Amino acid sequence: MGKLSGKAVVITGASRGIGAAAAEAMAVEGASVLLLARSAEGITALASRLRKSGHVAEAMTCDVSEFTQVSAAIGRAHEAFGRVDAIINNAGVIEPIGPLATADPKAWSHAADINFKGVFNGMRAVLPQMRAQGTGVIVNVGSAAAHNPLEGWSHYCAAKAGTAMLTRCAHLENRGRGIRVFSLSPGTVATEMQRKIKASGINAVSQMDFAQHAPVGEPAKALVWLLTDDAAEFAGQEISLRQPEMRARIGL
Ligand SMILES: NC(=O)c1ccc[n+]([C@@H]2O[C@H](COP(=O)([O-])OP(=O)(O)OC[C@H]3O[C@@H](n4cnc5c(N)ncnc54)[C@H](OP(=O)(O)O)[C@@H]3O)[C@@H](O)[C@H]2O)c1
Repeated sequence: MGKLSGKAVVITGASRGIGAAAAEAMAVEGASVLLLARSAEGITALASRLRKSGHVAEAMTCDVSEFTQVSAAIGRAHEAFGRVDAIINNAGVIEPIGPLATADPKAWSHAADINFKGVFNGMRAVLPQMRAQGTGVIVNVGSAAAHNPLEGWSHYCAAKAGTAMLTRCAHLENRGRGIRVFSLSPGTVATEMQRKIKASGINAVSQMDFAQHAPVGEPAKALVWLLTDDAAEFAGQEISLRQPEMRARIGL
């Protein structure tokens, strides 16, 4: 029996990077997974590969900045799996990268809609049914950028700071109802987002050697663990993969 046998999990931003690795790790642990992203190619290919290996996986295009699309995706998960036990609000963008003084207001605002309102949309879409069933886990993927301003990343830092507070508000309102809400700060991870950061050359993170970034398997393992009862005592908190004690607890 896998650690997540019988669980139905929705993962946003599952076409590549942390979301794709988490979706695969969860499916291998027995979860039924619904993969969401704006583009169809990555999620349909991954879902089909997982199904060929005997796992339960579905894919659906969904832009997390649009509540109606997120709500429709949760409806699809109910149709396919009969329930939703967890959502991983992982979708995120780093671009546009650049100074606030010259930012394109529309592009800045849209990035904030994805990185911040996308997390609200995911929680808003699942919480009524989680409250009715009396169980559920929500993990919002945060960042150390929530607590550290970085040049060129104003929408990203501000949205991740907002996400950290949204996590705490959601925990406050839903603790005692069988619902656990976490934020995961994964450290720097070797994904396409870090390639875009490197190409920008704009702040200290862009100067890091790509080899210094953690493999996607680390946050994927942490996300699997957060869906298990072993993580229950940390509900409401931000889990940082930079903390040695937390890494040891997760088995990293
Ligand atoms: N990599 C790091 O070092 C790092 C560090 C701290 C936190 N994080 C966080 O980890 C999460 C995943 O990042 P990553 O590094 O795996 O990035 P990534 O490789 O760029 O993947 C981002 C994913 O989000 C999806 N996405 C983007 N906008 C979306 C939208 N509006 N609706 C639905 N899906 C959307 C992308 O697919 P489509 O483009 O097809 O939609 C893709 O699947 C993000 O929240 C990021 O902020 C990453």
